[in-house]
Amino acid sequence: ASLELGPYRHFMQKEIHEQPKALADTIEQVLEQGFVPALFGDHSGELLSEVEGVQILACGTSFYAGSVAKYWIESIAKLPCTVEIASEYRYREAVANPKYLVVTISQSGETLDTMEALKYAQSLGHDLSLSICNVQESAIPRASKLVFYTRAGAEIGVASTKAFTTQLVALFTLAVTLGKLNGRFGSDQEAGYLDDLRQLPGSVQHALNLEPQIKPWADRFSPKQHALFLGRGVHYPIALEGALKLKEITYIHAEAYAAGELKHGPLALVDENMPVVVIAPNDSLLEKVKSNMQEVRARGGELFVFADLDSGFGESEGVHVIRTPRHVGVLSPVVHAIPVQLLAYHTALARGTDVDKPRNLAKSVTVE
Ligand code: G6P
Repeated sequence: ASLELGPYRHFMQKEIHEQPKALADTIEQVLEQGFVPALFGDHSGELLSEVEGVQILACGTSFYAGSVAKYWIESIAKLPCTVEIASEYRYREAVANPKYLVVTISQSGETLDTMEALKYAQSLGHDLSLSICNVQESAIPRASKLVFYTRAGAEIGVASTKAFTTQLVALFTLAVTLGKLNGRFGSDQEAGYLDDLRQLPGSVQHALNLEPQIKPWADRFSPKQHALFLGRGVHYPIALEGALKLKEITYIHAEAYAAGELKHGPLALVDENMPVVVIAPNDSLLEKVKSNMQEVRARGGELFVFADLDSGFGESEGVHVIRTPRHVGVLSPVVHAIPVQLLAYHTALARGTDVDKPRNLAKSVTVE
């Protein structure tokens, strides 16, 4: 293993740092061909142009990738999109619309609940399925009509990192391709989306360069029992993913909330012992997020804010700020995934937990 690890201490650390390359490899085919249905398989143009909505099914981190995709599919492709945890969907009496595309997301392609949810969707009349997967020829892509393989390379750390961000770019590519097929935007906008993808590996590298600033935060987190993560809109699933990473590898109890829900419960938990991580990009929701932060501060909560360079945040008593790169627009959730991964990783190091093999967890869950 030491050979494979190179200069890194853990696979998770290596995989976090491999993200610029994993992303570049995954988008290479998109940059070459543009947003063409052929990216998802032969003859997919006809199939995808019929689609009236999207049903996403996944587990774990892949479910959070799907939760980001919902925002993109509705805002870019203007198609209705539902995201559901595979183990929930497979056991309920769902109403299927055969005109919906069923999208499963799975790093391994072997997660039992996701596989069974796909089969259940098919039994309900869903003929059109797309698998977003990182492992060639695994069970779920084999059972699907269309497939997009992420090119993250082997992911060994149990906590998913590079698989997540490459799933995000695959889903963004799907949203833009569906939007293009439906004539939802002009060629300028399309060129803009392609440029966003082209810039992404560089922006992710900038986010990785924040590591020295994140380490001292990890030292403050390591003695804590609980943490709260807040985000809004397309960054709400990034808050969920940040809380999941922290739980998985540090065993600190972490919860994520849509920041607008603060007053509906979690504010009762806030005191000086509850660190509150805020994902605060410079988007249309920034002012709302700032007022949520004031609510936390007023209760003595300590804020740890990931803000874009241009968000205009200053440090003050109880408010710590790390500035991520300039706001990158629609792909901002991909960039904001990086600092929460690094925070979890360094907190785990400080606590001395088994980063790559957290207790009780498995890389791929092939049993119920
Ligand atoms: C396990 C892994 C997670 C992963 C989830 C779904 O819980 O530890 O990292 O997100 O399974 O796995 P999949 O392979 O379907 O994406």
